Formats: sequence, structure tokens, C-alpha cells
Amino acid sequence: MKDERAGDSDPQWKYGIMWNESWETGHEQIDEQHKELFRLASDLIEACEQGSNVQTVDKALDFLASYVVRHFADEETLMTQSDYPAFEEHKNKHEDFKQTVAELARQFQESGSSSDLSHKINSIVIQWLITHISMLDRNLAYYVRSAGKQRSF
Ligand SMILES: [Fe+2]
Repeated sequence: MKDERAGDSDPQWKYGIMWNESWETGHEQIDEQHKELFRLASDLIEACEQGSNVQTVDKALDFLASYVVRHFADEETLMTQSDYPAFEEHKNKHEDFKQTVAELARQFQESGSSSDLSHKINSIVIQWLITHISMLDRNLAYYVRSAGKQRSF
């Protein structure tokens, strides 16, 4: 997925959270997808904070939710291809998070509250991503690297 804002002249993101190199796992494809997740979460927060209409916020939420599903599927493919021993535990965390995102979407459909959604994306989604990436995804990348396993999706 191409990011229009990528490049040396990339401005500081006004909303959301900037990608931090300390969250890199060392697996190129996973890291690129993680960066995209943060961009999409930031786009969503921006749409909320700028008072965009419900359709615009809903679209940004849908982009994020869809990308989460695709990214998790790619990681799970990598895990099965490489006989990753912690596959079940990791996949369960993915399933929980997909439920969380679906629940946020449901709440937004009901309330239409952009400020509430923005707060939850910051406090729940971003924090979950940072914790998950820093621990489970890093462990996966380390395993794949050190065991000389299949490195691409
Ligand atoms: Fe993961």
C-alpha cells in the first residue's frame, strides 16, 4: 500500500503518533505494515479531530480495520510457514484485537461520536499496537531470523 506522504519531506504528523524506530522488529515486511497501521490510525484520529463528517470518519475506520485484518493474516502466514511455536497464543491476541476494533466501529455507528472514537483509538488501539509490536511481533521476527526460516509472506 503506497503512502503519499512518504519521503524525506514528510511533515510531522499533526495527529496520532509518529512511528518510532525502537518499535522495529527487524523484519522488513512486518515493519512496513506496522508503519502503515500507524499512518492509518493517525489518519483516523485526524479525521475525528478535524470534525470530518461521519462518512469520512467511517471510511478511515474501515481502512484501518481492513488493514489490520490483512496484516494479521500475513503475520499468521509467516508463522505457519515457519512452524512458529507460539502461533496459537499470537493468533489469539490478533483475534482479540480484531474484536476490539469491531466493537469500536459498532460503538461509533451507534453514537457517531468522533471525539470519543479519537480518544479510544489513542488510548486503546495505539497502546495495544505498541505493546504487541514490542513483544510478540519482535519475538516472531527474532524466531524467523534466528531459525533461518521463511522470511517473506
Ligand atoms: Fe502480531
